[in-house]
Amino acid sequence: MTTQTENIYGNLINGEWLQSEDTFIVENKYTHEVYAKVAKSSQEVITNAITNAYETFKKVKLSATNRYDILMRATQLFEERKEEIARVICSEAGKTITDARAEVERGIQTFIASAEEAKRLAGQGLPIQGQPGNDAKMAFSIRVPVGLICAITPFNFPFNLTAHKIGPAIAAGNTVVLKPAEKTPVSAIKMAEVLLEAGLPKGFLNVVNGFGHETGPVLLKDERIAMYTFTGSPAVGRVIKRESGIRKVTLELGNNSPNIIHHDVADLQRAVDLCVSRGYSNSGQACISVQRVYVHRAIYEEVLEQAKATAESFIVGNPENETTNIGPMISVKEAERAEEWVQEAVNAGATIITGGTREDALFKPTILTNVKEDMKVMCEEVFAPIISIVPYEDLDELFANVNDSKFGLQAGIFTSNLHLAMRAAQELEFGGVNINDVSTFRADILPYGGVKDSGVGKEGPRHAVEEMTEEKVITMHL
Ligand code: SIN
Repeated sequence: MTTQTENIYGNLINGEWLQSEDTFIVENKYTHEVYAKVAKSSQEVITNAITNAYETFKKVKLSATNRYDILMRATQLFEERKEEIARVICSEAGKTITDARAEVERGIQTFIASAEEAKRLAGQGLPIQGQPGNDAKMAFSIRVPVGLICAITPFNFPFNLTAHKIGPAIAAGNTVVLKPAEKTPVSAIKMAEVLLEAGLPKGFLNVVNGFGHETGPVLLKDERIAMYTFTGSPAVGRVIKRESGIRKVTLELGNNSPNIIHHDVADLQRAVDLCVSRGYSNSGQACISVQRVYVHRAIYEEVLEQAKATAESFIVGNPENETTNIGPMISVKEAERAEEWVQEAVNAGATIITGGTREDALFKPTILTNVKEDMKVMCEEVFAPIISIVPYEDLDELFANVNDSKFGLQAGIFTSNLHLAMRAAQELEFGGVNINDVSTFRADILPYGGVKDSGVGKEGPRHAVEEMTEEKVITMHL
């Protein structure tokens, strides 16, 4: 066993950090300097992690109050270390320090909500006597943990989206093998350190690091894993769904988030500021980032003008600076991909109102108009600080365009018209509709998850705990 040394990190197996000669580099996403070296997990290490978590689930049980206490103690330790963790996120994800701090605060809330769920885990009384012939029987259910859960987490919210998987899994009494995103593993490693310090017994959380194409096949084929919880691309989500057979999955995938600003919006400036800022925060790298902005023709020119002014007021640069609004994208390759998509749109008739270019991994906040629904910047998940603004007049056509997407995670609509708001609530084919707010709004305690290619299952501690437990039905002959 070796302990963690500064910026050289291991894999966590049975409560011990295992180093390896075979490491991969985690870059600082702004400077491209080496930020950390992390041990790659071999097939043997992954199998050991699975065996350990599986055996731990079979042999060691933690009571509900134990689980609550451990998770709550972890939140206190996160509080003490929150600036350190925010700086990790800032370096390895390129997230601005302001957004990184906000992410840690959210992660702490996610852990608190998860801890509370540990105490609420309950089945229900079942009305068995409602069926003839059952007068001498009674029935109820209990919720039991599914067993060993494999959590695969993304780079864009490396702390909070990991908290959304680990918190509920532990709260529900499961054990976990965690595979963090290879571009941002240190945030998750810090989380694991804190959970151990908070008293989580060894074996309840094992962490295996490495590249998805190498770790994925080993993780997917091992039938001792009862459930996969994944956030990432639809392409990988499909592989997990196919390979997991009849085991459980929760998949949080992409979106090309639509937002509507109707002419009767109560506060136009607020709506525009939100659409612009939430299209660019985290360099647009959130599944619910504002992407398609549909604006009523009557206010279209005014919105364009305001949006351009707001976009151009944003400071793009070093994420460590307190005043920076937009840091680098996760890689130069991703920034190049976004640039290509913009160019492709322009070649097909789109107009760049502002932005459209990059320096290294820094992508300028971009507004496009004259776009068509079938351009990649509209119909695919852009995952970059690029929004497209589209005028509309006819509501039926608007709703058809908004729904004409392979995705369905969250949408936003700004209107003072109650009927229109309720129509949007009912007719928009998304996992969530935010009225007088943007698609990007998310309260971590609420259910979160999409329809269509945006995934299956819900996150949000209460709902994740439901996904991560089985309802076991008990009957008794009196
Ligand atoms: C996501 O990218 O799906 C998560 C966004 C968030 O939690 O704010």
